Amino acid sequence: MHLYVGISLDGYIAAPDGGVEWLNPYSDARSGFAPFIKTIGSLIMGRVTYDHAVARGYSNFGKMPSYVVTHRPFTAPSRSVIPFIGDPTELVQQIRARHPGDIWLMGGGGVTKSFQEADLIDIWSVAFVPTLLGAGLPMFPPAAFHERRLRLARTHTYPSGVIELRYERLEDASAGMKAAAKR
Ligand SMILES: NC(=O)c1ccc[n+]([C@@H]2O[C@H](COP(=O)([O-])OP(=O)(O)OC[C@H]3O[C@@H](n4cnc5c(N)ncnc54)[C@H](OP(=O)(O)O)[C@@H]3O)[C@@H](O)[C@H]2O)c1
Repeated sequence: MHLYVGISLDGYIAAPDGGVEWLNPYSDARSGFAPFIKTIGSLIMGRVTYDHAVARGYSNFGKMPSYVVTHRPFTAPSRSVIPFIGDPTELVQQIRARHPGDIWLMGGGGVTKSFQEADLIDIWSVAFVPTLLGAGLPMFPPAAFHERRLRLARTHTYPSGVIELRYERLEDASAGMKAAAKR
């Protein structure tokens, strides 16, 4: 499962009203999206992210199976938008059995926290944008989850100043420390 998000330098994924228009000046970073989406066969998003997208006119998620995690009643706009209530681990197992390709964990923070708590994320692609929002919705809402060490797999700097970091799961911490010592 691959988390792919844009984040302000001070750690927010949305303005206090849920808006993400502050990402618009950094459209050059979208070029990193094309190779990413080729690896993806399905996506998961939180109910708040879904509602924000619909409110801004993005109700069509195409044919990609799009799972919306929510405890609330939900009317799907098409067969490819599928509500889910239950255990995140079960959802991931169901998706892997049904759809090829990797799973895009779109966010927002509430969902990222739920899936991180269950240790389901394999790749974290985080695009830091050179904006300080001052307030907003955090990438990880305050909550406890187990410490997890990651391996830096890639960095990419865009002309606009966005720096995209790609981290992957570090299964063997001692191997990661040896690799770091060699650099
Ligand atoms: N910058 C970026 O790249 C980026 C990416 C994605 C989203 N966003 C922004 O992030 C904001 C939303 O983030 P958020 O943290 O407020 O909300 P969110 O993660 O989108 O949604 C949280 C909601 O998802 C449901 N949920 C979470 N875990 C669940 C589980 N295990 N089972 C069932 N339902 C579960 C709950 O909905 P119920 O109330 O139905 O229980 C919860 O209130 C939006 O403004 C969006 O635009 C930004």
